[in-house]
Amino acid sequence: KVVAVLFGGRSSEHEISLRSALFILKNIPEKYKMIPVGINRNGMFYSLSGTFKASDFVNVTVEDLAIIVKGSIPVSLAGRKNLKTLLLPYIKDEIQKQPLQFSYSDSGQTDQFRILNLDASCFFPVLHGQNGEDGRLQGLFELAEVAYVGCDMRSSVVGIDKDIQKRLARDAGVSVAKYELIEAEGFEKEKEKTISRIEKSIGYPCFVKPNSLGSAVGTGRAKDRLELEKLVKEALAFDQKALVEEPMVGTEVECAFLGTAYSPKVTKAGEIAPKDFYSYEEKYANSSEAELFIPARLSDERMIELQESAKKIANVTGISGLCRIDFWNCKKTNRFIFNEINTLPGLTSISMFPKLWEHEGVLGKEWIEEVIEEAYL
Ligand code: DAL
Ligand code: MG
Repeated sequence: KVVAVLFGGRSSEHEISLRSALFILKNIPEKYKMIPVGINRNGMFYSLSGTFKASDFVNVTVEDLAIIVKGSIPVSLAGRKNLKTLLLPYIKDEIQKQPLQFSYSDSGQTDQFRILNLDASCFFPVLHGQNGEDGRLQGLFELAEVAYVGCDMRSSVVGIDKDIQKRLARDAGVSVAKYELIEAEGFEKEKEKTISRIEKSIGYPCFVKPNSLGSAVGTGRAKDRLELEKLVKEALAFDQKALVEEPMVGTEVECAFLGTAYSPKVTKAGEIAPKDFYSYEEKYANSSEAELFIPARLSDERMIELQESAKKIANVTGISGLCRIDFWNCKKTNRFIFNEINTLPGLTSISMFPKLWEHEGVLGKEWIEEVIEEAYL
């Protein structure tokens, strides 16, 4: 089986995708052949020619993947013999002459379909956020009737839309934070009214986030009207919709998921106790001051309660393959508050998903095999 591993992409989480992809490239079982495919920020596809195995990627770094994505000569690879031989033939023959394009071109040509010409029997989008995790690519794979790893188109669309998934959770009897939805359209005209509505229902401090972005990109905390207006404007620059949420006092508790919506396998939760709030910098900076607990500091009963809620979320959102389901453990009420699902959870060296499964005794290469085999069903 030949698996095309896609990374990078036209998304605000491009960088994180490279880090996640490294985990897959290094841990994919040796029985699979891989075609690594870097997608740059403009949506151009650069695939390495030939097929590879995890053992080819032992010494590869995130910086090397960034070079593949840009389709440029891998200067940093000089001195790393196996990689040099790995990448140079491709650089000469493929990258510079005929990059595979994946873009909505101005001419209206459907260049994006060219990715389907890669000689792969399965696609593994290790892409976070827009254009990779949000259902667009999944829809393309479904149209083409090719196997692909992870959540299907429908659940990916739900997974990128915080508003929709909160509504589904609420309908299923799972608590969510109080929030208000703001739409970019008409916001400036109705600003006074909208801001007063938020002040009345949520108040300060409050959290502002784009409705459909991950990794805490474009999020912030407002403590007065001035900050609120500024943050909403910023969030709406990223997205057509923004959420303003009541602040959660407590810690984040997250479960990892494998399987299907109707027979979900859900790990014990891990816990992130951020110093302040879990910002993009906090999440990925090396100096992160957030504390991680695996398993989360919960009694057995509460852990089971949380896992049951996570399964309910899996049922109503329809996720399959892999996912991470995030809650808050609200200090004040001692209740779990559903936050969001992540249909392509971060797989970086600091990410929860691989750590949670490892804690359950499931190694990366085991769950990677599982999600690839499920893609063919
Ligand atoms: N969106 C990032 C990658 C995550 O939730 O893990
Ligand atoms: Mg997220």
